[in-house]
Amino acid sequence: MLEKKILVAASIFAVALFGVIALSVRLFGIDLPTCLTDVRPFKDAKVIEQGPKRYEIHYVARMWKFEPANVTMPPGSTADVYVASADVTHGLQIIGTNVNLEVVPGAVNFARVKFDKAGDYLVVCNEYCGMQHHNMAARIHVSEKSVAPPVAAASVPTSGSDLVAKYACTACHSLDGSPMTGPTFKGLYGSKRILADGTTVTADEAYLTESINNPNAKVVKGFDPVMPPMPIPPNEVHQIVEYLETLK
Ligand code: CUA
Repeated sequence: MLEKKILVAASIFAVALFGVIALSVRLFGIDLPTCLTDVRPFKDAKVIEQGPKRYEIHYVARMWKFEPANVTMPPGSTADVYVASADVTHGLQIIGTNVNLEVVPGAVNFARVKFDKAGDYLVVCNEYCGMQHHNMAARIHVSEKSVAPPVAAASVPTSGSDLVAKYACTACHSLDGSPMTGPTFKGLYGSKRILADGTTVTADEAYLTESINNPNAKVVKGFDPVMPPMPIPPNEVHQIVEYLETLK
């Protein structure tokens, strides 16, 4: 009978699906984010160094910041990320990693992440949480040095490429044309950009300056509005744009 055949087919499909899930968990370590119900919600943010290259970060999300705002660890470190909310629902996403947690009041969510590559990793809120939602961000500095790179620029002359490295632009923008979290820098200057609303702009100095200062004003089609506004002084923005012009 037809019903029987459908039932048998569905059962085989279900068993195969469980097999694939079991395989991906065992062989590739792909796992679902775990909601740790046995961790009590906390109010104090902290970073615990559990051992060499083993860290535990307790993030507290509140309107409109993450604490701790800056965490530094050497490349190759594994971090256990716990996050609790001090007020409303937020989202914690670490750009360039698989970490994307819902931050729910009264619960603690957890993710484990390994930072193989040095760089600045942005921690952003991806759940609308009020007026300053788009400014809600923190950083994880993955570098050999135990000191965080300075955020404010001293009046030392630097090149545009130094600035791109300093502000960790390449954590999300490639220099060789490959797509990452954000559009590649290669060939960007002077190109036509199609925006999320279907309109077209030219990536000239004015557009690039705006996109650094206020990234979500004109988001390119196909990309998420996840870049936080960068507090970069105008003279440095100009240097960065001049550098982008050289990346044909
Ligand atoms: Cu917190 Cu959006």
